[in-house]
Amino acid sequence: MSPSSCTARLEKTLVAINVNVDGRSASHDVEPRLLLVHYLRDVLGKGGTPVGCDTSNCGACTVSLNGQSVKSCTVLAVQADGADVLTIEGLADTVDSDLHPVQEAFRECHGLQCGYCTPGMIMASVDLLKENPNPSEAEIREGLEGNLCRCTGYHNIVRAVQTAAAAMGSGVTA
Ligand code: FES
Ligand code: FES
Repeated sequence: MSPSSCTARLEKTLVAINVNVDGRSASHDVEPRLLLVHYLRDVLGKGGTPVGCDTSNCGACTVSLNGQSVKSCTVLAVQADGADVLTIEGLADTVDSDLHPVQEAFRECHGLQCGYCTPGMIMASVDLLKENPNPSEAEIREGLEGNLCRCTGYHNIVRAVQTAAAAMGSGVTA
């Protein structure tokens, strides 16, 4: 096979996608096997969404896809074609303040410890509070069980979600 036919074959494998990420539209030709998390990080430069395990266990890569939290290492970039994606980097822009109430609560309650688990914890917490604005401690722990903190700092994370729930229930917008 000549080099030019190899190139032609490679080009054929690329798929055009259009995605709205953090309020901005993006269009790229991507390989069908490219994971959404790698598209966000490597193509769009969204380094705020980390890869913790790449095996759908840790939740570090959690983003919102059409309003629902997903582990972006379990989604192909081509599956996000036409979708709205929200990452931790666009979250504050969804409210009229410097930080989203959940980000603010994580800061206040020392729920954030490292940069690996925190973005995913916050994105999953936002989704949890959207589904259940006033969760019990058990419901928070259950809702976040797909997100791992390797230093087992869950207590402050639970307090942060409770604090965010109270703040959002008292008129702070989601
Ligand atoms: S990197 Fe996606 S779940 Fe761990
Ligand atoms: S604080 Fe991130 S893994 Fe524990």
